[in-house]
Amino acid sequence: MSTILAIETSCDDCAAAIVSVEGQVHANVVYTQNVEHERFGGVVPEVAARSHLEKIAWVVKKAFEEAQIFPEDIEYVAVTTHPGLVGSLLVGAMFAKGFAQSIGCQIIAVNHLEGHLLAGSNEKKFPKNRHVALIVSGGHSALYLVEESGYKLLGETLDDAAGEAFDKVGKMLGLGYPAGKKIDEIANGGDAKRFEFPRALKDKSTYDYSFSGLKTSVRYKLRDLQNSGVALDEVLKKDICASMRQAVVDALLRKAFLACKRLKVYSLVLGGGVAANSLLRFQAMAEGKKFGISVFVPKVEYCTDNAVMIGLSAIGKIKQGAFSELSSLGVSARA
Ligand code: KG4
Ligand code: ZN
Repeated sequence: MSTILAIETSCDDCAAAIVSVEGQVHANVVYTQNVEHERFGGVVPEVAARSHLEKIAWVVKKAFEEAQIFPEDIEYVAVTTHPGLVGSLLVGAMFAKGFAQSIGCQIIAVNHLEGHLLAGSNEKKFPKNRHVALIVSGGHSALYLVEESGYKLLGETLDDAAGEAFDKVGKMLGLGYPAGKKIDEIANGGDAKRFEFPRALKDKSTYDYSFSGLKTSVRYKLRDLQNSGVALDEVLKKDICASMRQAVVDALLRKAFLACKRLKVYSLVLGGGVAANSLLRFQAMAEGKKFGISVFVPKVEYCTDNAVMIGLSAIGKIKQGAFSELSSLGVSARA
């Protein structure tokens, strides 16, 4: 059994996984730093790096326990090297280098976004052919055309990412950080038609997104309601969450299916933390059925940041022999 130890520390999740080169998952451990960042209302880079430093050895040890194997059984180490927070990336990259050096195994540098693109690639239903991928997270909202030769950026957000919009609206509603999952849960009991929030750039022919206007629109709506004496009670919160979630999902899927139709692509893959959203998953499937486009969404635990997706991304590179030199492997904030 050829085994990969995968490490992901690009933002605020400290993750390790053990996967085989055939794509079997033997361990998936994620330490999420929500508690550390919640009181700041967002990720603080220095706090994130320090937390990774404290947790990385524990997370990797736990992965070995889960997989019931020993460090000497590892043949490859895969690590996220870009894009992300430099301090956080460095902790993972240095740990991976030290591990590879001590075991004497090959090291593979992985792009975090490529990880999201391939998060479900070990599943039978994952498209083998040309497809469009929508990657939506706290830092990115982008559409790609994925072909055998590689992937091409079709469009991306011009301002806030979709996850950022959820997190900022969550802050306004006092829901803590990150807020995407909470908004999703609260929205399930609300009226999505009560407020008509903007679907920016919907009539533009490009594949770009914009979510900062939506956030501002929610802020003004809350202010106007408050000024007219309407209390921010549970019903109002539910309706704001439901209407806001609907606006994000409509905007995301409109461009994704437009790209599929125009480029004559019949498969769409979703990925990134926002792909854990229950409405996005449901509506993508329903619209895909209507348009004759098959939609693949990874399991929820592989949508938010994890190291399994980093291990899966390394498989293709291992087959190509695309290994990194220990002396030159570095990290970068950019994609
Ligand atoms: O991919 P991810 O774990 O980290 C980044 O690479 O950014 O994505 C985190 C983002 C956060 O903004 C979080 O609020 C959002 O994903 N998120 C969700 C849901 N679960 C996580 N957004 C909407 N609905 C969800 N269920
Ligand atoms: Zn991510």
